[in-house]
Amino acid sequence: MTGNVFRTSLRSHQAGALRASDAGVQVSLAGWVHRSRNLGGLVFLDLRDRAGIVQVSFDPKTTSTDVIGKAASLGQETVVRIEGVVALRPAEMRNSEIETGDVEVHATSVTVLGPAETPAIPVARGKGEKLANEDLRLRYRHLDLRRPELQNNILLRHRLQQSTRRYLDEHGYLEIETPILTKPTPEGARDYLVPSRVHEGEFYALPQSPQLYKQLLMVSGFDRYFQIARCFRDEDLRADRQPEFTQIDIEASFVTPEDIMELTEGMLGVLFADAGISIPAKFRRMSYAECMERYGCDRPDLRYGLEIVDVTDAFRNADFGITRSAIDAGGRVRGIKIPGGAGMSRKQVDEIEQIAKSAGAFGLLRLKKANGALEGPVAKFIDESGAAALALDEGDLMLMVASKDQISSTALDRVRQDVAKRLNLVPEGSVEMVWVTDFPLFGEDTETGGLAAVHHPFTAPHPDDVSKLDTEPRNVRALAYDVVMNGTELGGGSIRIHDTAMQKRVLGMLGISDEDAKMRFGFLLDALSAGAPPHGGIALGFDRLAMLLSGAPSLRDVIAFPKTTAARALFEGAPTPVNEQDLHALHLELRKQ
Ligand code: AMO
Repeated sequence: MTGNVFRTSLRSHQAGALRASDAGVQVSLAGWVHRSRNLGGLVFLDLRDRAGIVQVSFDPKTTSTDVIGKAASLGQETVVRIEGVVALRPAEMRNSEIETGDVEVHATSVTVLGPAETPAIPVARGKGEKLANEDLRLRYRHLDLRRPELQNNILLRHRLQQSTRRYLDEHGYLEIETPILTKPTPEGARDYLVPSRVHEGEFYALPQSPQLYKQLLMVSGFDRYFQIARCFRDEDLRADRQPEFTQIDIEASFVTPEDIMELTEGMLGVLFADAGISIPAKFRRMSYAECMERYGCDRPDLRYGLEIVDVTDAFRNADFGITRSAIDAGGRVRGIKIPGGAGMSRKQVDEIEQIAKSAGAFGLLRLKKANGALEGPVAKFIDESGAAALALDEGDLMLMVASKDQISSTALDRVRQDVAKRLNLVPEGSVEMVWVTDFPLFGEDTETGGLAAVHHPFTAPHPDDVSKLDTEPRNVRALAYDVVMNGTELGGGSIRIHDTAMQKRVLGMLGISDEDAKMRFGFLLDALSAGAPPHGGIALGFDRLAMLLSGAPSLRDVIAFPKTTAARALFEGAPTPVNEQDLHALHLELRKQ
């Protein structure tokens, strides 16, 4: 920013921006009383504004008794205007911990602009002072947002948004808004529905993403689109999920996955640099199949090892019921080797086993190598060749699951994450980016047992696998890709189907009849047959990006007014019941419980 853009009729400078070079300048400041101290006549007040905190002093030698009395009576968080002169602090009084620490303001007047009641939660946190509990902080969000951590997060979020716009604009992407009152877009969650007053019995859906609109924009010839788009999904919430969230949504025509990956890598490089983090120009790539084999999940955290290994061979000759029946049923024995893990206590391993069990495993088989020999309940079943297959070194612990891959992957993924945390194996400050590619096009619909789209139904099949669509649909790969950072899915995208017949065929395979397809996606099918360019794109979770780049533990720390995990807005109090009249106007009646 050039010049002092913060100058207004009420202030000349930002309090937190004063530096030694301002010494001698007459200033008027406006902000909040962060803290005040009365040292027998000499009153010190910390004045806070968006830029930071500056110390203001009221000295009886130079200031009138009236002004000093007023300054001494100011309560915390009162909004004041202060006039005075910036002075260098004596060398021994300088405070290197704050940016304004070389100066103080010798005040000549103080005016109350906004009186404040005693804050409901502490705002001026001292060192080591604990935060109020989160529900209380969300209830008094206007106060909590005054905390420097949250101010910095929101500031970083702003900068990331500006950089996103600049980067995409420079690459020819047009920012185009798409509707919020719309038709359901299938992204795998439940829709938030909005009843229509004018059209009895009809509903809009809030968009789960702008997916179909961005495809239509490609058909319309805009070539490159982006939007910092609000999306709404009614799903079970976690620390990294909010019911309404923001995506950097991108679509482009005449592209391959390579083009979208390259654009994303460039953009993320710029955004990470905003947060002072450098990342490689090119990210690693790993196929979905490899991820599942080595890490048990499709969003692997590559900051540490603890890879999953197949140790079925160690149990081939073992006369042990659990492994025998798993192997006979077409399963495998897979495990994680924990170097030095032999030293873990039984209690610790029992706790890890509970995690595996809660993820669906029957339990964890344990083997360790101590004093040159295998130890553990299953050690006696392992023969020499089995022991060689395990390849354990002295002090290693192997935790294993014998089951179908689906179960062992889920369980060992959780075990892996838990062990890494428990043993402090995640290097501080490290960033590992990876593209996960070659997802299957179809997964299983758990309700019907039929096919379900892994990404969404508009994702193109891999051209090499189209011939398998009828014969082995579950082995068809999608032209889809996810970008994963430190075990969090930051974004996902794909090349889309741009051919009406193929789109109808895939919808049909997903159990959507021609008639149903026409009703739900007729507008897309019509558009695809009107001359559609090959196109594809990606959407990055913007809140997740801001969370990871700010180091915040939860999405709630990077959203000004977030919802709780119970999807409530505690500050303004939403959702709320609606009165009979409003329901009536919307043609709705509540079912009595
Ligand atoms: P997808 O559903 O993978 O793809 O979403 C893209 C990214 O959005 C973020 N995200 C969320 N962030 C916070 N809270 C949520 N509830 C939430 N759900 C998703 C994630 C995710 O990676 N239309 C496709 C994109 C495309 O194909 O171009 C889509 O929405 O970071």
